[in-house]
Amino acid sequence: MTLDITFSKAPHKNTDAAVLCFYEDKEPSASVGSLNYEFHGFIDHVLEKNKSFTGKVGQTQILMLPEKSPYSYAILLGCGKKDNMDKLEAEKLGGKLFAALGSTNIESAEFYVDNDLDNSGDIAAHIAVGLKMRSYTFDLYKSKPSDEEAEKHLSDVHFVVFDGDAANELYTEQACVLEGVFLARDLVNEPPNELYPDVYAKRIKEQLKPLGVEIEILDEKKMKKLGMGALLAVGQGSDNAPRMVIMRWKGDKSSSDAPLAFVGKGVTFDTGGISLKPGPGMEEMKMDMGGSAAVVGLMKSLALRKAKVNVVGIVGLVENMPSARAYRPADIVTSYSGKTIEVLNTDAEGRLVLADALSYVQDVYKPALIVDLATLTGAILIALGHEYCGTFVTDDALWEQMDHAGKDTDEKLWRMPLDEVWKKDMEGTISDTQNMAKSGRWAGSCTAAGFLSHFIEEGTSWAHMDIAGTAWIKSDKDTTPKYGTGFGVRVLDRFVSQNYEQS
Ligand code: BES
Ligand code: MN
Ligand code: ZN
Repeated sequence: MTLDITFSKAPHKNTDAAVLCFYEDKEPSASVGSLNYEFHGFIDHVLEKNKSFTGKVGQTQILMLPEKSPYSYAILLGCGKKDNMDKLEAEKLGGKLFAALGSTNIESAEFYVDNDLDNSGDIAAHIAVGLKMRSYTFDLYKSKPSDEEAEKHLSDVHFVVFDGDAANELYTEQACVLEGVFLARDLVNEPPNELYPDVYAKRIKEQLKPLGVEIEILDEKKMKKLGMGALLAVGQGSDNAPRMVIMRWKGDKSSSDAPLAFVGKGVTFDTGGISLKPGPGMEEMKMDMGGSAAVVGLMKSLALRKAKVNVVGIVGLVENMPSARAYRPADIVTSYSGKTIEVLNTDAEGRLVLADALSYVQDVYKPALIVDLATLTGAILIALGHEYCGTFVTDDALWEQMDHAGKDTDEKLWRMPLDEVWKKDMEGTISDTQNMAKSGRWAGSCTAAGFLSHFIEEGTSWAHMDIAGTAWIKSDKDTTPKYGTGFGVRVLDRFVSQNYEQS
């Protein structure tokens, strides 16, 4: 499904429908008056007779217009309180509008933006972003479209807004980011028999190399040579051999500063291994590569919008399977860093994958800061559900930047504690570290972060985002259809553009 979005000052009047905005208590926005005149007072008539449409945010009323009208339909769109209209509200409104039109035959629409708003260009762009975000579908595996999908759907929206050029510029840049979001969603939604490490690595190369991202793929042999015993242990039970993919975007050729590093957990399927997970719900563990998908999506966004920044992305791709070759609880493995890890539960595999990826990126690229993303713990779902991403950060300055970007993009972050207590809790008894806390199951997300901190060099700025709750949702949100969300791409793209890009 594609959705084309354009902006200009004047209406084209060649679409199926016109979208008219109303604030609460049926207060018409600036453009309604002239259209009402063109429709011979029809809108006023409907508003008077129809008691249910009040202008509450997201409310829609679809009207068939009489013959010889410039459009076949008028869509009355409730926009809530005028004072509440800001960028995030605009995005949500766009999402709601798309959802409301999803089940109609309306293929094209002209959206009359309220030019009385002092930032109407911005608002138009953000409504467009919300529309586009909600328009995402994943139908690669439908052999023929179902009746419902075969029907016509919204594929063209033209925004009528005074500052069409400004709106277009802002939207065009954000559309690059949404390409990254959609790629991340696609990757998460792929079934695990189709997207396993080898295929995944090739897909990354295919997607990013044409955009100027340098790609290096480490196969099992190379990783053995490098001593990545932690990641390899996780992958050894599967017939699908692991990979590590390193992506480099050098958008700022003039700078020799250390790059920013983004690291992602890419467990293409997590059965739990020998510490097997229960059957019900196991199918959801195809999303256990959501962290890696966000890193790949982010690299795509940065490359598409030619971000003036140097970034290295790195993802550890493995499948966690039980088999005669699988690693066992009680195995002791040696990580890339040289530190040994006693495996006490093969289902705490993400931290092993990250350990090697984190050590490798520090060793080879000496990054200025590291952000990792991982669907790491069920415990973060207990703490924060699907709304907030638990974020563990070494320093306040880095947290401020991330929090700000999170609030701007509505990919909300919540700071979680990193504490020496949990680092100690993850020290081993007969090895350097172990993958389960000595204290037991409490604070599972914090002990997991404590484990990772063993693999971060002293003084390095580091953030760990546990996206187990936010990478995958089972019911639609305004701007995010259910299943893979692409969480992480928008917030980190914004984090980069607000703090690290040369202008
Ligand atoms: N991939 C899971 C975490 C997860 C749970 C992601 C639910 C998404 C939804 C991770 O590998 C895992 O199994 N974690 C264990 C850790 C435990 C064994 C210490 C968990 O959270 O139960
Ligand atoms: Mn697991
Ligand atoms: Zn996992």
